[in-house]
Amino acid sequence: METSIRNETESDYRRVEEITREAFWNLHVPGCDEHYLAHVMRTHRDFIKDLDYVVLVDGELVGNIMFARSSVVNEKNAAVEVLTFGPVSVLPEYQKKGIGSSLIRHAMRRAGEMGYTAVIIYGNPKNYCRHGFKSSKDYGISAADGKYPFSLLTLELVKGTFADHAWRFFESDVYNIDEHEAEEFDRTFGHKEKGYRYTQVEFSIARRAFIE
Ligand SMILES: CC(C)(COP(=O)(O)OP(=O)(O)OC[C@H]1O[C@@H](n2cnc3c(N)ncnc32)[C@H](O)[C@@H]1OP(=O)(O)O)[C@@H](O)C(=O)NCCC(=O)NCCS
Repeated sequence: METSIRNETESDYRRVEEITREAFWNLHVPGCDEHYLAHVMRTHRDFIKDLDYVVLVDGELVGNIMFARSSVVNEKNAAVEVLTFGPVSVLPEYQKKGIGSSLIRHAMRRAGEMGYTAVIIYGNPKNYCRHGFKSSKDYGISAADGKYPFSLLTLELVKGTFADHAWRFFESDVYNIDEHEAEEFDRTFGHKEKGYRYTQVEFSIARRAFIE
């Protein structure tokens, strides 16, 4: 199995959206809209083209990661630009082989080399703590409403970026997608049955969990 990582090109777009749909389908909710997010992200002002990567196995595209610019603002109203990523996907039949980890490691290393200060995401700690992410609360970073969600995670690329201040995270508005447009977009793909998976309950619990 030969794995390679390169930037996404226009001819990859539809396949990346199909892979994203396969990876997220029924995972968090019945169906999914992450493939629509991938679709609209590429033309959004916060999208970072240089950090848009695909991973191939023996020449076949099997996964993707995309980043956007977000920001944190401290109690003195000083803002710092940070990165957010997502969607990140690996085709289900290629998962649990280390491919997602190598893609994430590659993207984080490149983000550091490009001089970005930190990566902040809403994600499952199970997927990201192994890559150095910590609870954002450990850096004094809350959500925009001042709460500390369980799933708000931070990877500090430049040490000390958040020291001695309290921060609020403002995620790029690319993540506020229109559900109806997402539904319309999904109809351009082959039919897939929406249904229940226990992972939807896990997601629902994590989404409503906060750190004291
Ligand atoms: C999250 C995701 C991108 C990870 O990709 P992946 O290729 O499966 O990731 P890895 O293979 O590196 O790691 C996944 C698991 O496989 C294990 N693994 C890695 N290599 C392995 C191997 N050769 N043999 C057996 N297990 C292996 C890892 O230890 C990890 O186990 P754990 O979850 O029990 O800790 C992928 O699962 C995915 O697309 N999921 C659906 C979409 C999603 O959830 N995206 C993230 C939203 S927060």
